[in-house]
Amino acid sequence: MNEIIIYGSCYGTAKTYAEALSKMINVAAVSYDRVSGLERYETIIYLGGLYAGGVRGMAKTVKKILPDTCRRFIVITVGLADPQDEKNIRNIRNSAGKQIPEVFRGRTEFYHLRGGIDYQKLNLMHRTMMKLLYDQVKKQPPEQWDAETRAMIETYGKKVDFVDLKRLEEIAEILGRKAGSPVLCPEIRAMKDTEYPLLKDFLYEAIYVPEGGAPPDRSILDTPELRVYLSGFGESESDCAAAAEVQGKVVGAAWARIMNDYGHIDDETPSLAIAVHKEYRGQGIGKKLLLFLMSALEERGFERVSLSVQKSNPAVRLYQRTGFITADETEEEYIMVNNLTMSADGAAVKRRGK
Ligand SMILES: Cc1cc2nc3c(=O)[nH]c(=O)nc-3n(C[C@H](O)[C@H](O)[C@H](O)COP(=O)(O)O)c2cc1C
Repeated sequence: MNEIIIYGSCYGTAKTYAEALSKMINVAAVSYDRVSGLERYETIIYLGGLYAGGVRGMAKTVKKILPDTCRRFIVITVGLADPQDEKNIRNIRNSAGKQIPEVFRGRTEFYHLRGGIDYQKLNLMHRTMMKLLYDQVKKQPPEQWDAETRAMIETYGKKVDFVDLKRLEEIAEILGRKAGSPVLCPEIRAMKDTEYPLLKDFLYEAIYVPEGGAPPDRSILDTPELRVYLSGFGESESDCAAAAEVQGKVVGAAWARIMNDYGHIDDETPSLAIAVHKEYRGQGIGKKLLLFLMSALEERGFERVSLSVQKSNPAVRLYQRTGFITADETEEEYIMVNNLTMSADGAAVKRRGK
């Protein structure tokens, strides 16, 4: 994988995180004002300090990135306010999101870390900004303080350090890598009949559980709505499945059949399901599985394939990247369709992504 970490740091906290992440996932980290050749990276991890809502150096950097090559843009913000606070997260994503061109928004992932501040080291402009802000917000009654205001009032004039490098382990894991582990090269192939029983586990993993939600009981797999994905799989002509194998283990699957599921659009169009085991996510395995499955379906003469996905599920981006477009929607879900004649190879998908 072609990746780089770029950091924007004025007083060193974002730089400390960037260098630690660099060691952890074995990807070079470069300051935004020294980076070049950005047009060749598929995954760009931008790690920057928050300054009045913006991410230091990010606006300049995104101008140098090419939409055709950069498929994944990961923004990790470093700020003083509590990065677990929902409202703070919304505010950061709103304002930082404005620095990101429209074309990248669908492929941007956000993570948030806490930095620090040392008022003795602030330059005159920053010190003045903080003073103006402090004078303004301290007039508000404490019950009106949001996480940002609270952090600023509590740390005003002091030296504080909330840097927690352990939080990077979570991010490295989300990025699909344990510290120091090599990038995996899965074999993507047709699933063997003998492996079809594995689809039950993959179907369970394919059930989207929003952040903080409890996973459903496995008995959910026996409901009629989910049984359609599995029962007698392999017996019907439309049944088609792809597997991702790593070191002899099937770690991901994508499968399709004509069925009356949530993604059903008509009786000629198969609908699909896909899942990759948690520890193997974030390495492009899902995309490879989808592309493989779509070419297999096209070879069998199907013109389209459809799916349903919850609007809040980050997999929506994967589907968009592989050429799916929204054909219909309910309050919670998108029904997405891919015209297979245009997605048989990567180049065609890319053309449509423009
Ligand atoms: C002028 C100024 C504005 C800031 N604005 C924000 C902000 O909007 N949100 C926030 O969480 N932290 C804010 N901070 C705190 C910085 O994001 C924090 O100090 C961070 O660790 C800086 O990263 P760096 O050390 O890599 O430059 C601000 C700090 C300064 C000096």
